[in-house]
Amino acid sequence: MPVIEITHPLVQHKLGLMRQVDTSTKGFRELAAEIACLLTCEATRDLETEPVTVQGWAGPVEVRRIAGRMITLVPILRAGLGMLEGALDLIPGAKVSVVGLQRDETTHHPRAYYANLVDDLAERTALVLDPMLATGGSLAACCDLLRAAGCRRIKALCLVAAPEGLALMAARHPEVAIHVAAIDRCLNENAYILPGLGDAGDRIFGTR
Ligand code: URA
Repeated sequence: MPVIEITHPLVQHKLGLMRQVDTSTKGFRELAAEIACLLTCEATRDLETEPVTVQGWAGPVEVRRIAGRMITLVPILRAGLGMLEGALDLIPGAKVSVVGLQRDETTHHPRAYYANLVDDLAERTALVLDPMLATGGSLAACCDLLRAAGCRRIKALCLVAAPEGLALMAARHPEVAIHVAAIDRCLNENAYILPGLGDAGDRIFGTR
């Protein structure tokens, strides 16, 4: 499973600011969007382009246009919404498929309580937005759901990943490339990433 850690100085600098406990809700939200934008740039590096001729100021000029596969952004509720704006800044025309997951109290596995997917999923690359890849259960469940709905190509964009979550994804969805700003040390006993960012959803929505 390809795991691409984005070591770009801007990403590392912005993530460092997000790690500070006194970063405001506004600041955290803006930084999440900015890093999401940079991760989106990396994750779309392999998009195919094709030549087209347009009318330029001095006559016809050959330019390149995105060809082939289109994209759907898939924020996992709730924290994934914090990455949506940044991804849309780069791909404003992207269709958005929203997935909500919650823990099933009987099986303890994540279960979808909401899924509103584009209907041409089979034609699109899904970029799943999941800021904190902790146990990996939610991302794996989201990939299960996308696959069952016909999606053939999935990539994940995460702010921070724990080795435990990466291991689960390698076992369950080895074909999914994961673009991440940092791979952290481990999970604590409550499945929070260390050193991590804390509860990303709470910090994005200001519900702490
Ligand atoms: N979800 C979060 O928001 N933070 C973690 O560290 C783990 C899961």
